[in-house]
Amino acid sequence: MKFYIKTYGCQMNLRDSDSAAALLIEHGLTPADGEADADLVILNTCSVRDQAERKAIGKLGFLGKLKRERPWMIFGIMGCMAQSRGAELLKSIKHLDFAIGTDQIHRIPEIVDRIATEHEKTAFFDRASAETPGIDSHRFDGAESPHSAFVSIMRGCSRYCSYCIVPFVRGPERSRPKESILNECRTLAAHGVPEIFLLGQNVSAYGLDNTAPPPDDAPSPFGELLKGIAAIDGIRRIRFTSPHPAYFTQALIDVFAQSEKVCKYVHLPLQSGSDRILKLMNRPYDTAKYLSVTDRLRRAAPGISFSTDVIVGFPTETEADFQATRELMDRVGFDNAFIFKYSPRKGTRSAQMPDDVPQEVKEERNQILLADLERRAEAANRKLVGQTFELLVEGPSKRNSARWSGRTDTFKQAVFTPDPAHPVACGDFVRVKIVRSTATTLYGELVPAGS
Ligand code: SAH
Ligand code: SF4
Ligand code: F3S
Repeated sequence: MKFYIKTYGCQMNLRDSDSAAALLIEHGLTPADGEADADLVILNTCSVRDQAERKAIGKLGFLGKLKRERPWMIFGIMGCMAQSRGAELLKSIKHLDFAIGTDQIHRIPEIVDRIATEHEKTAFFDRASAETPGIDSHRFDGAESPHSAFVSIMRGCSRYCSYCIVPFVRGPERSRPKESILNECRTLAAHGVPEIFLLGQNVSAYGLDNTAPPPDDAPSPFGELLKGIAAIDGIRRIRFTSPHPAYFTQALIDVFAQSEKVCKYVHLPLQSGSDRILKLMNRPYDTAKYLSVTDRLRRAAPGISFSTDVIVGFPTETEADFQATRELMDRVGFDNAFIFKYSPRKGTRSAQMPDDVPQEVKEERNQILLADLERRAEAANRKLVGQTFELLVEGPSKRNSARWSGRTDTFKQAVFTPDPAHPVACGDFVRVKIVRSTATTLYGELVPAGS
């Protein structure tokens, strides 16, 4: 049986799809190139904004047509929308065979076997502990990014930001045991994976499940985890997403000064630069706290780069609130940002507030922030021309396969032309001197080893 998994949403979903794929391969199934060539198609869904749900529903409709041509096909949904709306969708969509919640990925092989013989619709939505079978399964043959691997360090989220559906669909925060995470990283290192990308909705609260933000001088279990991973031979880079500003203690900041392997790049979701809006969002920090974290990180690791998430058009957001966001983004000097237009989600606290910022204003604010960002990124990248960086090679460039592409420690993408006398491979480290730049890409020349 051939399977295909289509993934929507965030890195957590990508990781879940990857462990589902590893479990299915272990169970004897083979990956298909696309849905038209598969016997089993699973959509891994996202609910974070209305648009994300609409995309998956549209795709489900299209898959109905495919089933008329290939009636033996099995269709399932997993992920966040499956958790919240799976039961309803299973009833209303005739060709949907199964729906499983975010904690039930390990049951997919058994479900597929059962449907293939009994043809009965199946659903499992129960919560489980942080550690379920397969949470640490990886595909080593044919993995999409053999140079880097996602590792889930916790499940769920207990922050209840007023706009966010994630705690409802992913359940409460549950951290995995440290030793189990370290074992997974050791296995990845033994397979030659040089970069570990740690995942969780609030990684800076790792080991502090369901607790209020700690004081700034508290110990950091997440910092200790980073140090443990940095001690593994073969691991050369450690990244993570997403930390929460309110859990970014001094002990965690210190790790950036102490460990070379912890990459000098932090994606630190801001959401808004207005203290009034942050309160309404139930984000337990103010702009002063946010700036104190980024300023201290900059002192601990000069050259560090930051990216963020921002929501525009949250209920009651005024022009002044928006300008405060613009100013703060400028002050931090983000290298990248994901800007989202507020979308009310059923069951969340902010959905009870009127969605009173008109769509055109949301769109306009979105465009302004994107333009600011481009201007800033262009200027920041121009300053890097002439500097030399170590790149982790990711493979041939998508636009021009004669060139190869890699990332700096600070997560900037750089392309270079390999030297035919010294072929490079995905996962290698090379040094390049930057000769040209745009807002999104650095162009470099190889610096011969030893020079
Ligand atoms: N756990 C991560 C975020 C996960 S969701 C964190 O706290 O940083 C990714 C991003 O989606 C959020 O940071 C937020 O900017 C955006 N988002 C979440 N709910 C949203 C909503 N209802 N409307 C618009 N954007 C939303
Ligand atoms: Fe959502 Fe807030 Fe949890 Fe992030 S921290 S997943 S924004 S509730
Ligand atoms: Fe979406 Fe779920 Fe991630 S709602 S953003 S896939 S945690």
